[in-house]
Amino acid sequence: MINITEDLILKTLSDIDDPSQSKDIVSLGLVSNVNIKDSNVGVTLEVPVHRGAAMEPIRKLAQEKIMKIEGVTSATVVITAHESKQKGSPNVSEINEIKEKVFESNVKRFVAVGSGKGGVGKSTTSVNLAIALKLEGYSVGLLDADVYGPSQPRMLGVSGRPASVGGDMVAPLQNFGISLMSMGLLVPDDTAMIWRGPMVQSALTQMLNSVAWGNLDVIVIDLPPGTGDIQISLAQQVNLAGAVIVSTPQDIALLDVVKAITMFQKANVPIIGMIENMSYWSCPDCGRVDHIFGKDGVKSEAKKRGIDLLGEIPISVDVRKSSDSGIPIIISDPDAIQSKNYRIIAKSIIKSIKLDEEEVV
Ligand SMILES: Nc1ncnc2c1ncn2[C@@H]1O[C@H](COP(=O)(O)OP(=O)(O)O)[C@@H](O)[C@H]1O
Ligand SMILES: [Mg+2]
Repeated sequence: MINITEDLILKTLSDIDDPSQSKDIVSLGLVSNVNIKDSNVGVTLEVPVHRGAAMEPIRKLAQEKIMKIEGVTSATVVITAHESKQKGSPNVSEINEIKEKVFESNVKRFVAVGSGKGGVGKSTTSVNLAIALKLEGYSVGLLDADVYGPSQPRMLGVSGRPASVGGDMVAPLQNFGISLMSMGLLVPDDTAMIWRGPMVQSALTQMLNSVAWGNLDVIVIDLPPGTGDIQISLAQQVNLAGAVIVSTPQDIALLDVVKAITMFQKANVPIIGMIENMSYWSCPDCGRVDHIFGKDGVKSEAKKRGIDLLGEIPISVDVRKSSDSGIPIIISDPDAIQSKNYRIIAKSIIKSIKLDEEEVV
């Protein structure tokens, strides 16, 4: 009679491929525990949370295969779901799986809008750029990944719960021709959410995986502020075509920008360029220009680092009002200097990420 050993069980299980990754379940590290008691065998498969249901056929097959081993009288294979392995970061197989899913929905390019800190105009920039890209004739999605302070539903003027489109998939909401998904659409405004790293990660993963984005040329991602694990792993999950960095001209904001640049470089994300927001204020009555947050701060930082300055967006009450009212300035006042500059910046982005060329994965 054959001796039932862990090696024998693993060898048997290594015949089973995970079809989503065309690799066997043992090499993928999905077998987390093998327990042998006389002729009874128990196996645990550990899979990412969102794959629990999809793994059922594999679980059954594993059980059948173990039962066929000579001398085995009972085989129990169970699936346990886990959050991301490292704090806040998915492992390589999870990342590949997410990429596969997102590519299934045919999104050609992802562009992130980042900044070192909050309140510099990242969301305002994201929504206006998304619409500017749309105005150039592309199909555009906007992913509000700032789970800490989701502001895109308000800025894009959408509300209501996303509709279910079967399975665990939901449809993005639409306005001005832009498809939007945001945690702000999934969690009521007045809910105080405390986010821990792994929760943020799985929320973002869901906003990529469980949203029927459809065929899009580009998704603009309004990143959460900060320069930690979450930003890096999101960047890697979707294979960012590039990142745009928003800053005000102040030194303090620039210190954070340096961190953001370093983070993208570490994650091998090309930096498309920097945008100086709240560059200056021009008095609508007398035309006098005030550099409220300092002059040329971003310009000189960009130059020093060999990064393009994509454009300047002056301060104006209209930008703030239009953001708050759900009609971004590029729609409410297309002739404003800000709107014109957003359109110029969008053209540079299109060139930089080669949006007109086919996918080169
Ligand atoms: N160029 C600008 N002129 C005037 N107000 C602006 C400008 N850019 C952003 N704001 C306002 O500043 C606030 C913060 O901008 P927001 O885009 O929410 O920043 P972030 O996403 O970086 O936190 C918002 O009230 C927004 O309307
Ligand atoms: Mg924001």
